[in-house]
Amino acid sequence: MRKNTVFVCQNCGFHSPKWLGRCSQCGEWNTMVEELEEQLAVELSETPGYPVLYQDIQETYCQRIPVGIEQLNNVLGGGLVPGSVVLIGGEPGIGKSTLLLQVSKDLGSGDSSVLYVSGEESLEQIKLRGDRLGLRAEKVYLMAETSLERILNAADRMKPGILVVDSVQTVFSSQLTSSPGTISQVREVTNRIFRLAKQNQMPVFLIGHITKEGSLAGPKSLEHMVDVVLLFEGERDHHHRVLRVLKNRFGPVSELAIFEMTQSGLQPIDNPSAFFLRERPQNEPGSVVVATIKGSRPLLVEIQALVSSTLFTGNPRRMSIGLDHYRVSMLLALVEKKIGYSFSGEDIYLNVAGGLEVEEPAADLGVVLAVISSIKNIPLPREMVVFGEVGLSGEVRSVSQAAARVKEARALGFETVLLPAGNLPQLQSENLKGIRCLGVDSIRKALTQVF
Ligand code: TYD
Ligand code: MG
Repeated sequence: MRKNTVFVCQNCGFHSPKWLGRCSQCGEWNTMVEELEEQLAVELSETPGYPVLYQDIQETYCQRIPVGIEQLNNVLGGGLVPGSVVLIGGEPGIGKSTLLLQVSKDLGSGDSSVLYVSGEESLEQIKLRGDRLGLRAEKVYLMAETSLERILNAADRMKPGILVVDSVQTVFSSQLTSSPGTISQVREVTNRIFRLAKQNQMPVFLIGHITKEGSLAGPKSLEHMVDVVLLFEGERDHHHRVLRVLKNRFGPVSELAIFEMTQSGLQPIDNPSAFFLRERPQNEPGSVVVATIKGSRPLLVEIQALVSSTLFTGNPRRMSIGLDHYRVSMLLALVEKKIGYSFSGEDIYLNVAGGLEVEEPAADLGVVLAVISSIKNIPLPREMVVFGEVGLSGEVRSVSQAAARVKEARALGFETVLLPAGNLPQLQSENLKGIRCLGVDSIRKALTQVF
């Protein structure tokens, strides 16, 4: 039995019994989304709530459920909140199913039972992956299902400690005529699962596929409907994966966890700086170690530059991987103007080693020094770390969290940090024994310190 559905314009709210390519009220294209009529009726007739005095609101202490992987607990703001819905988005093949099967393994070995629903793979396929991950937990239930009604039914009867739905795009409600993966369906699926989670105080992980462009047919429109949105990112050719928080109703959004994809699943990386520097060449021109901030933590990364005379006269190449292209152009123009190099006959390649992205202005000074080190063919002093923002007059400007950056450099055995002079006063109150801080206020001064 199918309930009546209507198509509602997401722009102006116009209702139509049929789908329209263009809303006949506001004239917008592709805005008509199918919704259940019953749901609309509820929304319209819902009795208005009554206000409660602020002082009368009871503080409830919420016991969080630890998920096993410490880094994931951190990202969630200290564990899973009962009844919360966590959306994990990422490109296909990045490791979302692997991560959640590992979480299922950890939780299922403890007190909670886990219901892992997959609309993508057969039970045998999931078991194959589970064997690789060493899953022998007793309380993990698998279900290969795409019908929302049957999933809700099973979860309602079983009342698992945690529910995993892999993925939101494959599940569909038989009450809508739209096909699985359409905006109507993913919204309906999320809505009903959200209600189930709140009613039973059952935490839910929802997996959502995202395309490279970030325009996720679906998950993007779900962000406001769930409690927590995590993004799982990485390059296919590299083994590390970064889990970031985009939204968290129960914690900070600055946390981040780094994992390595291995033969036996995802391994959390405890010391990311050491991980990203482990293949760093010694005494190579063009290589600079930069102290950047990822999430709320400092991270040391290597920026590499290669400047070589061009074969494309009049149109030399400019390539940067992992850095903001516009910022790099600005810095190159600055080096030409202020230091007096000419790049018109040079190809310039820049790369952040390990496939990381560094978008912080604090990496500016590192970029400038990497390029000049490559032109001069002189390496930077050994064991030096660099950070600082560079302004258009060639001045080096102070950045946030200087002490954390310096401490990270010291923890990894570096001896010197080249940093904005403006940051030095803040560092005086910190105990920074064992590392030398060289403050500079312009790129000219930085060059005399380094070369
Ligand atoms: P998967 O979790 O299926 O990705 P998603 O659910 O995001 O689409 O992971 C896919 C990749 O991970 C696949 O290419 C194989 C690799 N992998 C490992 O390298 N080691 C492992 O232990 C597992 C389970 C997967
Ligand atoms: Mg998957």
